[in-house]
Order: sequence, then C-alpha cells, then structure tokens
Amino acid sequence: MKVAFFDTKPYDKLWFDPMAKESDIKIKYFENKLNDDTAVMAKGYDAVCVFVNDTINAQVIAILAQIGVKLIALRCSGYNNVDFKAAKEHNIKVVRVPSYSPSAVAEHTAALLLAVNRKTHKAYIRTKDSNFNINGLLGFDLAGKTAGIIGTGQIGRMFIDICRGFKMQVIAYDLYPKENSGIDYVTLDELFKRSHVISLHCPLTKETKHLINEQTIQKMQDNVFIINTSRGALIDTTALIEGLKSKKIGGAGLDVYEEESEYFFEDYSNEIIEDDELARLLAFPNVVMTSHQGFFTKEALEAIARVTINNLKEFENGKITNEVVLKDNSIVEKRN
Ligand code: NAI
Repeated sequence: MKVAFFDTKPYDKLWFDPMAKESDIKIKYFENKLNDDTAVMAKGYDAVCVFVNDTINAQVIAILAQIGVKLIALRCSGYNNVDFKAAKEHNIKVVRVPSYSPSAVAEHTAALLLAVNRKTHKAYIRTKDSNFNINGLLGFDLAGKTAGIIGTGQIGRMFIDICRGFKMQVIAYDLYPKENSGIDYVTLDELFKRSHVISLHCPLTKETKHLINEQTIQKMQDNVFIINTSRGALIDTTALIEGLKSKKIGGAGLDVYEEESEYFFEDYSNEIIEDDELARLLAFPNVVMTSHQGFFTKEALEAIARVTINNLKEFENGKITNEVVLKDNSIVEKRN
C-alpha cells in the first residue's frame, strides 16, 4: 500500500517509519499541507495521511478521486476539516484515530489554566532576568471555584478529574450527558452563569461553531477564565478580544485558534504576523497561547502512528473499524 503523507514534521517520521516498515506500507512524506494546489502530489498513491490543518474540502476530494486515491487517513481524532458529503459522493473512505491520549490534552489544559491564572509565563521571564519582584503576578485559588466543562467525552472527563483534584466544584454540559457518570450536568446558560473557569472539550460542528460569542460572553461571570484546547472556531475571536479588552474575561488559555492553519506548527519568529487578531491575542498579558500542542506527548505520538498504520492495514484487508461517515446528515462513527 502506498501512502502520501502530508504536513510532515520530523517527529512524525520517528514513529511512523519503523511501524510502516514492519507493515510493508510505503510512505512518501511531503512537508506541504494538503490543499487544492498540492492534492495532485498524491497521484499514484492509494491513500493520503493528513493532520488537523490540512484542507480536505470538496475540491481537494474531487482531485484525490480523479487521481485514484481511495482512503483519507486522518492522524488525529477531530474531523472538522473534511467534507464528508464529497467523500461519500466520490466513494473515498475516511478513517481517524478516535482516541490516542486523552490525558495528554487534559494535562495540557491544566497547564494552560495554571499558567494563565498564576502568570507563570510572566514569572518565568522575570526570574530569568533576575527580576524577583512579584507585583502583578497575583492569581486566585482554584480550590472552591467552579469549573464549567463543555463536552464530557474522553478529554473532558479526564479534565474533570483533574479539576476535582484541585478541589474545584465541577459542572458540565454535553449534548449527550453520560448516564451514571457522577457528573453534575447543567444547561449551557447555567454553566455560563456559574463558572469561574470554562473549558471547551466538545468537537467543532455547525452547532458548536462560535459557541463562545458576544452574547454568551455576556452571560458569564465577570473575570471568567476561558480555556480552549479543542478547536479554535468554538470561539468567536473578535468577541473574545472584546471580552478581554473590556476585562469581562479575566484570562484565556488557548491551544487552538480559529485561523491557526497558516501559522501554527511553523516558525514565524522573523516574520511580520499579518493576522491582526492573532497578534492582538499574543499581546494580552493575560492570554497564554500554545501552538496546538495538547496532543504532543511521546505516548500520544506512538498511539497515533500505531492506530493509523492499523487503519491503513485494515483498509487493505477490506475491514475497517475507525471509519467516519455521513449518515442522515450527521457525521458518525461507522459501526461494523
Ligand atoms: P470525544 O468524542 O470523546 O468527546 C466529545 C464530547 O463532546 C462528547 O461527549 C460529545 O457528546 C460532546 N458533544 C458533541 N457535540 C456537542 C455539543 N454540541 N455540545 C456539547 N457537547 C457536545 O472527544 P475527545 O477525545 O474528548 O476530544 C474532544 C476534542 O478535543 C476533539 O473534538 C478535538 O477537537 C480536541 N482535541 C484537541 C487536541 C489538541 O492537541 N489540542 C488533541 C485531540 C483532540
């Protein structure tokens, strides 16, 4: 089986190369992201392997179908960047890695919350410069505060456990509440009203796009902290910036950003950032941003490579388990 691997970074090869060799899968690594211009590079390959910021829209899928690609193997769990209607029309299957290390993302969520609250990002720079003054670094105790968790899947539930470890009160909202889970589910409005910290762990869908917007921010407590390690477009960036400027929002920890695809994972340290909203977010002292690294642990990379290689092998053998399909206008995990 021949696979065109897009948006390759050196760490991808470390895990994929040995596993591919064992499985007799031939991988060609491309540094380019998959998009309308680069899709033709997959000519002669059976499958493409793609990540969170590759473009897999109708046009790209039509090109892939035309050049004989039969499988899109996502090496991530989110699939918001795929046009499933087009994939169905062209009979291209889509597989993903449903879960690789929920703890990796949940732990990074906690790291962002702790950093933005206790201003560790500023303290680090100060002490590095032998400035031992702590003025301006005041935080608050998490113990006793209320954490509102939106999305109680694998990552959300793990982050709930972490919050409980901090002795926070936890309330949650999920479209599909988990029965007998011991989670205190409330309506979204109640969650917005009661939470000191709001953390997003639901997928990006038509319904969840801009879940955090001007209206919902107004429903929140003053000085609320918002943490997003899920997908950038869950938050309307313009509204977030306004909320931070007006001091309604006390701080934000962001591992994802609405328009991240051009910037994240790349080195722009010698360039001018042309995205004014990104530049504005980076300028706030009470915003800590990381570049979609929630998943980035050894354990997660190993699991991503293992499950993806297995997905490719299963496709070759005609029996796939991690397929995602469009069914009755909803995108669902196909059960065999
Ligand atoms: P999951 O599928 O286990 O859980 C998602 C939860 O969201 C489910 O309980 C589902 O019922 C709920 N949900 C669906 N629609 C909803 C809605 N409209 N409102 C509220 N809840 C809704 O997914 P998992 O593994 O916990 O991942 C969560 C998100 O984290 C993913 O969608 C992905 O975007 C993001 N992620 C980010 C990573 C990073 O590196 N920053 C790495 C991996 C995932």
